[in-house]
Order: sequence, then structure tokens, then C-alpha cells
Amino acid sequence: MTIRLGDEAPDFTAQTTQGEIRFHEWLGDSWGVLFSHPKDYTPVCTTELGMVAKLKDEFDKRNVKVIGLSVDSVDSHIGWEKDIEETQGCAVNFPMIADPDRKVADLYGMIHPNANDTLTVRSVFVIGPDKKVKLTLTYPASTGRNFAELLRVIDSLQLTSQYSVATPVNWKDGDDCIIVPSISDEDAKEKFPAGFKTVKPYLRVTPQPNKV
Ligand code: BEZ
Repeated sequence: MTIRLGDEAPDFTAQTTQGEIRFHEWLGDSWGVLFSHPKDYTPVCTTELGMVAKLKDEFDKRNVKVIGLSVDSVDSHIGWEKDIEETQGCAVNFPMIADPDRKVADLYGMIHPNANDTLTVRSVFVIGPDKKVKLTLTYPASTGRNFAELLRVIDSLQLTSQYSVATPVNWKDGDDCIIVPSISDEDAKEKFPAGFKTVKPYLRVTPQPNKV
């Protein structure tokens, strides 16, 4: 199954390290990050899960619930979490889905058979409070993800869901934003009281609206 931006995130029931969950119910009104890793007791995954655990306050601040997944069992996840705490210095503080029958992996297209026909790739789905998919990422098993970049993108997604702006290259929270082309100059004057600079008629820059 291919999941595209704007699709409803498929709902499912699954066993996790924190008990059975119904995904949509578990998400509630929060934003969500569903991410897969290839296998328990592997080195890159160990570092990734430790980092996500360390970033808990950052996800909480953004009202984002995080949940991991691999095709291993709950017992395997729980055993491995001890190693993650020992080696990464932080206990895993988010649920991990056990998906040995690949039900969720298939639902989300997390197995790419020409990369590996049994293990999940490193997928990330960011899901909005409306349960729609806002971002997808796919990394190979050999490359650990940059979760600071994921937080940066979530900042952009949350900002652009509230204001008629887009965020430019390498933008980070607090930087100037771009007014979307569908807004006329007249409307922009009203919507952006801090003003804007017209670099080109299609490139208008304004201070980040929720920081002024
Ligand atoms: C890892 O997490 O280190 C890993 C997992 C599967 C294949 C290669 C590396």
C-alpha cells in the first residue's frame, strides 16, 4: 500500500510495549509520529531509539505522540529496551509496536521488498490531529535518521497549518517565513501586521507570525 500526503493514516489495533492500542484512539487530538526500524538488537536502531527517548520533552512541547514499530515481538522489544537504556543513557519512554505478522507494516508500506523482503525500512509518518498524513520519510537500514530535522519539519508543519506562510530553505523556528503566493498583497497587509518585504512579486518575506 502506498500512503500519500493528505491520505488518512490507516487505523489499526496492535500490541505494544505499553499494552494494546487502537491507533486513532491512542493519537486522540495530538499530532503523531509513527516510525519503523528494521530490527531489534541492531546498532543503528539502538542509537535512534535512544535519541527519540532523549527528545521526549521536545515532542511533548509540540503535542506530538511518538510510536515505534518493527516486525519483532513485544518480549523482544522489552529485552532490547534494557540495552538501549544501558548504552544510550535514556530509557525508552514511548510505546513500540510489535508487528511480527507485518499487519501494520503492510498497511503503511513499510516493507520495500527490493531492499529487504522481510524487514521494515526506516519509515516515518507524521500525522496531524485530523489523522491525515502530513509528511513521509523513507531511509535505508544503513542510514540513521536525524530526529532534530524531524522536529524542525514538525515546527514548519504546525506553523503552516495555522498561518498562510511557507518556510524557506533551512528554515528553523524563529526565522522569517514566506507568504504563500495565493495571498494578495492587500490581504497580506492585514494578515501580517509586522509587514513584509517583496523581494519578487512571488517571493514575499515576513517575520514568523507567531513570534511577533
Ligand atoms: C542497524 O540498525 O544497525 C541495522 C539494521 C538492519 C540492517 C543494517 C543495520
